[in-house]
Formats: sequence, structure tokens, C-alpha cells
Amino acid sequence: MKIRYFGHSAFMLTNDLGHRVLIDPFLDDNPLSPVKSEEIDAEYIIATHAHADHLGDSFKIAKRCDSTIIGVAELAWYVESKGYKAHAMQIGGAYNFPFGRVKLTPALHGSQTPEGQYAGLAAGALVWMDGKCVYHAGDTGLSYDMKLVGEMNEVDLFIVPIGDNYTMGIEDALKAVEFVNPKKVIPMHFNTWPIIDADPELFAQKVREMGKECLTLKPGDELQI
Ligand code: NI
Ligand code: MN
Repeated sequence: MKIRYFGHSAFMLTNDLGHRVLIDPFLDDNPLSPVKSEEIDAEYIIATHAHADHLGDSFKIAKRCDSTIIGVAELAWYVESKGYKAHAMQIGGAYNFPFGRVKLTPALHGSQTPEGQYAGLAAGALVWMDGKCVYHAGDTGLSYDMKLVGEMNEVDLFIVPIGDNYTMGIEDALKAVEFVNPKKVIPMHFNTWPIIDADPELFAQKVREMGKECLTLKPGDELQI
């Protein structure tokens, strides 16, 4: 599986069969992203919640690529009300898609659409592709539920927010890494704006002190896992 980072919480997962899955494609208004939404194709888009920095350019991409947007039911309803394809799930539920399996996980956060409508619970996502398990935590504060995710799943890659203010900061993200016990860690949701400034190298150093691999991707970087 290949994973490409676009800054903030936006990632593209590509499996060995060439299936492309975007997570939280905030690109055109993302000051860190090296690409614009018009340069990106995806069959499926996982939207962890409806905030503009996560739902992002999902509709523009879905319009051009006929993508299906995966999210909690209230978010899926909003997507369909705008004329796009959605796959509704709820936290704790998993489904086998053509590209692999997705299970939505709890996130301590809100969710409302750009028009201000309630959009259900915010989520994270476990994604299994090519025999690997990626856990994108979404926007969330630290919760003990993450320990359960770690106990029940062998997580190869844990993508965790570190920017503080709206999500976990570094100290809490380190506790989350301990709970999830993944093989590798990638920090996200930092340095997009001054209010979420954080030092990914400081975080990475502390993760390495825990005996784990931490990769601080630059926006645009692609990694094979
Ligand atoms: Ni949010
Ligand atoms: Mn956010």
C-alpha cells in the first residue's frame, strides 16, 4: 500500500490493485497542500466529519470522478442531499469495500456542515488494504477507547493529530500511541494555521524514545508501507 500526505489531515491510500481512497481531502484551501483537488482522482473518499478542513474538496472530486463518500449516516445524508454518492456507516460498524475494509472509530469532536447543520458524530477510521491496517484517528481528543482499538487490532500505521486546541496535543498524542501500540506513527493536523502550531520532530523524537517508528511526512511525500 502507498500512502501520500497532502498536509493537515489529508491522505491518499493506493493499494496494489490501484484502488485509490482519499481521506479528508482538504486541498484547495489548505495552505500546506502541494496539489489542488483538480489534480486528484479517487473512487472513494472517507470523510471523518463534516468540518470544512476535512470534508474539504470532497464534492469537487466526487463531481469529476463519480466518487463515493464514506461517512457516518448524518454526513452521508448531507452528501446525498447535494446530489453525490455516499455510503452511510456508523461508529463501530465495518464494511468490506472493493478496495478493502473500513471500520469507523470513536472521535471526541463535533461535526457540522459548512452551512451549520449538525452532521452526526465525528469519527476516525480503521482501513485495511493489502493486509495492512491504517488507523486515521480523525479530529479527536485523547480517549481510553483508543486502548480498545489497540487491543483489538494490529495497527501497522497510526495517523494521529498533534496540533492541540481542536484535537490532542503532543503530550496526549503520545499517550494515544501507547494505547494503540502501532508499528509506525505519522503526526497530522498541525502547522496548517498558527493556532495549531506544533513541532512534529519533537513528537517524533518522543515516539522513538518509546521504541516506535515515527515518520514526519512533508506535504506531497509518498510512503510505501
Ligand atoms: Ni474538525
Ligand atoms: Mn480539523
